[in-house]
Amino acid sequence: MKLKDILDRKSLPEPWSEGDNIPWNDPGFSRRMLREHLTQSHDLASRRSVRIDAHVDWIHREMLSGRLVKVLDLACGPGLYASRLARLGHRCVGIDFSPASIAYAKRQTVEEDLSCEYIHADIRSIEYGSGFGLVMLIFGEFNVFRPSDAARILANVHAALDEGGVLLLEAHTGEAIREFGLRPASWYASESGVFSGLPHLCLQENFWDAQSETVTRRYFVVDASSGEVTRYAQTLKAYTEEQYRASLEAAGFGDVRFHPSLTGTDDVLQRDLLVIQARRQ
Ligand SMILES: C[S@@+](CC[C@H](N)C(=O)[O-])C[C@H]1O[C@@H](n2cnc3c(N)ncnc32)[C@H](O)[C@@H]1O
Repeated sequence: MKLKDILDRKSLPEPWSEGDNIPWNDPGFSRRMLREHLTQSHDLASRRSVRIDAHVDWIHREMLSGRLVKVLDLACGPGLYASRLARLGHRCVGIDFSPASIAYAKRQTVEEDLSCEYIHADIRSIEYGSGFGLVMLIFGEFNVFRPSDAARILANVHAALDEGGVLLLEAHTGEAIREFGLRPASWYASESGVFSGLPHLCLQENFWDAQSETVTRRYFVVDASSGEVTRYAQTLKAYTEEQYRASLEAAGFGDVRFHPSLTGTDDVLQRDLLVIQARRQ
């Protein structure tokens, strides 16, 4: 794309039509993003270690009452949760389509001889297997899926869980998604960032679509030396608590409960997310 294409862009993007998601599965993007997952200076790609430690402690003690089970972590990133759960004695499987994250997670497993298996795949299309006591999909990733994909993921999770097994879904609140869509456009200049390893500008705009209850974030990445433009887009679907409950019940789950965070208590750093626990019945 050229700069002129930015001027000629559609004033309102159709949800999911300009791209599924940011390019997690692109090798260069995933390599640069891995640094953001592992940094201890912010919580943007993965949370910092001290917070993940507290989440894993709560999952082990409260969600699982200390029982050792087979765990499936969907969209596991570099395996920061799965590796900790494995150190506590759980057997873990992690699936993610970021090549650098999965390579990092596999290296950790070998170095520490952990009971973890990592699979490089798209969670919208892979079979999950069976016999799990816990399936988790955390840090708001559920909202990026089209409703048809989200329903299929929930049905596949249901099939992968043992009777009584638990789904742990950490998703965005409906209000947070609407607020993302109402944020003004913004831009930054960078010598090297997740979207490009070369000097570039990144222009972002956000759209709230009240009809589909989605936010679409559009990113134009302008290469500083050539002026070449690359567009990325991500759409997130807003759900109310009632809609989350209805989607889970439609997929065969029961005993649906809501928690304010992955420590069970209010987390002022994370009010845009809520935690949903549901059981296969
Ligand atoms: C915000 S990161 C969270 C990673 C991890 N759950 C954590 O909290 O540390 C989102 C992850 O979702 C993964 N992801 C997004 N869509 C995916 C898909 N369709 N299939 C597999 N992985 C996906 C990305 O590659 C990325 O690693």
